Amino acid sequence: MADVEALEITGGARLVGQVRLTGAKNSVLKLMAAALLAEGRTVLTEVPEILDVEIMAELLRRLGCEVEHDRQRSIVAIDVPATPAHRADYDLVRRMRASISVLGPLLARCGEADIALPGGDNIGSRGLDMHVAGLERMGAAVRVEHGFLHAQADRLTGATIWLDFPSVGATETLLMAAVTARGRTVIDNAAREPEIIDICQLLVQMGAVIEGIGSSMLTIDGVDTLSAVRHETVPDRIVAGTWAVAAAMTRGEITITNARPEHLEIALDKLATAGADIEVHAGEFTVRMDDRPRAIDIVTLPYPGFPTDLQPQFIALNAIAEGASLVTENLFEARFRFVHELARLGADVQTEGHHALVRGRDSLSGAPVEATDIRAGAGLVLAGLVAEGVTTVYEVHHIDRGYAGFVDALTALGAQVERVTASE
Ligand code: UD1
Repeated sequence: MADVEALEITGGARLVGQVRLTGAKNSVLKLMAAALLAEGRTVLTEVPEILDVEIMAELLRRLGCEVEHDRQRSIVAIDVPATPAHRADYDLVRRMRASISVLGPLLARCGEADIALPGGDNIGSRGLDMHVAGLERMGAAVRVEHGFLHAQADRLTGATIWLDFPSVGATETLLMAAVTARGRTVIDNAAREPEIIDICQLLVQMGAVIEGIGSSMLTIDGVDTLSAVRHETVPDRIVAGTWAVAAAMTRGEITITNARPEHLEIALDKLATAGADIEVHAGEFTVRMDDRPRAIDIVTLPYPGFPTDLQPQFIALNAIAEGASLVTENLFEARFRFVHELARLGADVQTEGHHALVRGRDSLSGAPVEATDIRAGAGLVLAGLVAEGVTTVYEVHHIDRGYAGFVDALTALGAQVERVTASE
């Protein structure tokens, strides 16, 4: 038997109060990687206190950067040397797939990059073919050997790249590679997530020339050098959405501040269809629910479609909703793995390929469950908040990767939750 950390939740509390968002995990990790593009000190603000930020900081240190993390003020300062190292080892990359985001900047800055092939979330195969094909189109020589991806190009050359699919990661890699390439790069069918816009804004501040920001066609005119700047991370729309669902499921009322509700339009519209009252103001919004939610159909798609990172939370909501719903997952095939855990709480979910049929139950009952990735973990915590009795969520390190101060925030809203050391 080994001692492990778990979250112990006693269901039944109505969550009421206010939470303030910090920056988005999926933005800040890439902003940290983008810092490599300029020698000197990049300062990022609104940095969330999550495990993935620590992993990325460690990766940057190994590349020769000095990284200071002021947790009180949510600031990370990165001092990038004139010549960074260009190798990202497996021990870090396997802990966090987003390590791959140093590939573009290192290739642009050092002329070569050696990146261990990533691990990360257990949510499907998650290939790198579009990253590689785009870099090759820009003149890089890329090969895979002994578990490493080696990329080399003395100076990348601008090219027109049509992505097969608007991949977030591939758009970011190619964008960060293109900003100092020779000539013009066009990325067509680019991802349009708010986190991509955030990276574009950082790059423009650093001196990059990018047209079409926020659209599916990015045009980048390469410049010779970039300079280090200070930048505020965009608020985390997925954490915001998770709190919104928490309010709806517990029939509570939560105001989410430092938010960009315009980044959550579909998700908030779905919650309104489920019966929630939603009040939107500049920079904040409130979700209130008095009755049992009604079941809602969901189809995940690239932004501005419904985010796959909120799919498990909405399945949790549908599990206690009135009626049946069909949830279609179009991005990650393994993301339904967590429904087996949800079933342990009594949820009625049937999956067939990339569809899940959820029949709402009057109630769920607490049980031990295991988080299989960050968002699955969030979905299970939400289910635990409304289940009768005690739910123990194991593998809590997944949740730590994406939710800063989660237990404190839940407690402040009235939830009965504790971080415990349990035997497994
Ligand atoms: C990012 C987010 C993740 C989110 C996802 C979709 C980070 C750290 N993670 O992941 O939370 O769920 O966007 O919004 O920002 N694919 C390929 N070949 C490629 C690239 C992608 O086949 O070269 C496939 C993947 O296997 C996956 C799909 O495309 O099935 C989506 O991937 P992508 O949009 O790149 O997501 P990530 O950047 O990995």
